[in-house]
Amino acid sequence: ADTLALASIEFDLTKVQEGQQVVIKWQGKPVFVRYRTPAELTKVIDEGAVGSPPQTDAERTKAGHEKYLVVVGSCTHLGCVPTFNAGDYGGWFCPCHGSHYDASGRIRKGPAPLNLIVPNYEYVSDTRVKIG
Ligand code: FES
Repeated sequence: ADTLALASIEFDLTKVQEGQQVVIKWQGKPVFVRYRTPAELTKVIDEGAVGSPPQTDAERTKAGHEKYLVVVGSCTHLGCVPTFNAGDYGGWFCPCHGSHYDASGRIRKGPAPLNLIVPNYEYVSDTRVKIG
């Protein structure tokens, strides 16, 4: 049971306000749960497939719950924790060596080689996700 408890974590989405993120800890790593504004959502959807590898926003979220983004909060360059709502693309900025992510967590500029990782997760109800 202890191992199972560590392997997954549930999060109540009502704890995150529109335009904000909540950082939770999962398996020793930060996980960002971001509630995107309508403007942020329109932008990341309209951009189509971008980042590395190129991905649409829909490939990084769950159908019917597009306003929420769940990503591991570790820069894919060398693992620093990117700063929320910063950088040239309105997503996150990693201050360690200057990587810019958009509000879908896709890498847009800087040395990071990959988009922020979307962990395995599922909706257990309309307002709860289970990560892991
Ligand atoms: Fe983020 Fe290097 S660790 S840019």
